[in-house]
Amino acid sequence: MIFDSHAHYDDKQFGEDRDELLSSMEQNRITKIVNVGADIPSSKRAIALAEQYDFVYASIGVHPSEISCLDAEGLKWLEKAAAHQKVAAIGEIGLDYYWDKETEVQEQQKVWFRRQLGLAREVQLPVIIHSRDAAADTLEIMKEAAVGIPGVIHCFSYSRELALEYVKLGYYIGVGGVVTFKNARKLKEAVAEIPMERILIETDCPYLAPEPNRGKRNSSLYLPYVVETVAELKGLRPEEVEEISYRNAMELYGLQNK
Ligand code: NI
Repeated sequence: MIFDSHAHYDDKQFGEDRDELLSSMEQNRITKIVNVGADIPSSKRAIALAEQYDFVYASIGVHPSEISCLDAEGLKWLEKAAAHQKVAAIGEIGLDYYWDKETEVQEQQKVWFRRQLGLAREVQLPVIIHSRDAAADTLEIMKEAAVGIPGVIHCFSYSRELALEYVKLGYYIGVGGVVTFKNARKLKEAVAEIPMERILIETDCPYLAPEPNRGKRNSSLYLPYVVETVAELKGLRPEEVEEISYRNAMELYGLQNK
C-alpha cells in the first residue's frame, strides 16, 4: 500500500476525470492521499474532496507565492477550518524566492510563513513546508518559529547536508518524481543518506511526473516508479519502502486514530 503524502487533485488539470481517477486508487494500492491547498479556494476544495472520499485527507494553507491574497480574515478562516475532522495539516506554507526576487515581497512571505506556523501551533496540526531557492531563510525561521511542530519538507530540493539537518530537527523529507530524473544527482545523494524512517513518498501531482512519464500529467498511479528508485538508493525492497513511508505518513498526519 502506498500513501501519497502530497497531491493536488483539486487542480483543474483533473477536471475531466477526477472522480474516475480517485475511484481507481484503492484497487491500485494507493490507500491514503493528503490533498494539499495552496490558497484559500484550493484549501476549500481540498476539504470538499476529503469529505467526498474516505481515503483522502486535506491540508489547508497558503503557498508563499499566493500570500498577496492572504489577510487577517483568511487566517481566521484557516483557523476555523483547521478544526474539521479531515484536516490533517497546515500547508503548503513556506518561502519561494524563485519567482519573487524583491526583498519587500520576500519579507511579506516571511511574515505569513511565521503566522501560519503560529496557526499550526495553535491548532496543533503538523506543517507541510514548501521551500524553493530559500534554504537559509527557511531553516532560520523553522529553527525559530517551528520548534515542536512536526512537519515535512515537501519536494526536497536542497543538499544532503541540509536534509540531514532537517532530520536532526525531527522533520520528515518529502520525496517525489524528481528523484527518478537522470539529472537529479544531488537529490539521489540526499535520499541515499536520509534514514528511511524520515522519508515520505509524494506526487505533488499534477506536477513532477516521474520517469518514464516525465512531462506528462502526474498522478498517484505513477508512485511505484518513485518507490522503486528510493528502494534502489536505499538498498531496500520496494515493499519495505512502501511500508515504512506509509507508517511515517500515518504518524506525521496523526491518522492512526482517525
Ligand atoms: Ni504542492
